[in-house]
Amino acid sequence: MKLILLGPPGAGKGTQAKMLMERFAIPQISTGDILRAAVANRTEMGIRAKEYMDAGALVPDQVVIGIVRDRLQEADCERGFILDGFPRTVPQADALRRELSLLGRELDAVVSLEVDVDVLVERLTGRRTCGGCGRGFHVRFDPPRVSGVCDACGGALVQRDDDREETIRQRLQVYAAQTAPLVDYYRGQKLLREVDGMAAMNEVQGQILGLLAVK
Ligand code: AP5
Ligand code: MG
Ligand code: ZN
Repeated sequence: MKLILLGPPGAGKGTQAKMLMERFAIPQISTGDILRAAVANRTEMGIRAKEYMDAGALVPDQVVIGIVRDRLQEADCERGFILDGFPRTVPQADALRRELSLLGRELDAVVSLEVDVDVLVERLTGRRTCGGCGRGFHVRFDPPRVSGVCDACGGALVQRDDDREETIRQRLQVYAAQTAPLVDYYRGQKLLREVDGMAAMNEVQGQILGLLAVK
């Protein structure tokens, strides 16, 4: 299974990718998670990327294309992968197409998660992530049993630096300007599968599994 999860900030890409990863035992490749790990480790790439991320802007194409190119060549991608948050621009999508064809591989589908803007803002302002194991929560839609504490590992829940309302608005604008054109890009390649991302998490997962089975 070789999938792209496409959708605006807060659409549920990470949430759905983690569920698919468990079900199919294939890796989630989240460029956002990889970049945040580089920021936390203060690598040279992380230090440069942080400025773009905190501003709600995209990290330059060459940087993320390099990350994904390396990652796709790792052994665990042989059975498939779920790309989460990549590609995000037409040049990134073109680079992915070239890279996959060099590897002799083809995408199965591009799943587009459709969610209204006001719901996106509420999802992002209420998102919390475990600093220990990375599990995601939402204060209203998926609350932990004990406020501020991870159900899975007991770690402390933190809010992402870019989940402040003004940065969220900026990220949504960047999505509309630079990433939304990929919907037509993949529709043109007959890879696009649209899903109602407003439904509950398990229902969205059900829709995705349904359309993959049909394929
Ligand atoms: P990235 O980490 O990819 O952030 P994003 O695209 O803005 O998306 P999010 O992670 O915010 O949302 P999501 O769709 O994963 O939603 P989630 O499942 O968490 O990128 C961050 C930054 O890194 C970018 O701004 C950029 O600077 C840089 N970057 C990354 N990739 C790049 C690239 N390719 N090129 C250039 N720069 C790049 O869900 C959100 C919340 O809602 C959670 O709390 C969840 O519990 C809840 N929720 C999820 N689904 C539902 C549901 N169905 N119902 C109710 N609540 C739900
Ligand atoms: Mg995410
Ligand atoms: Zn945890």
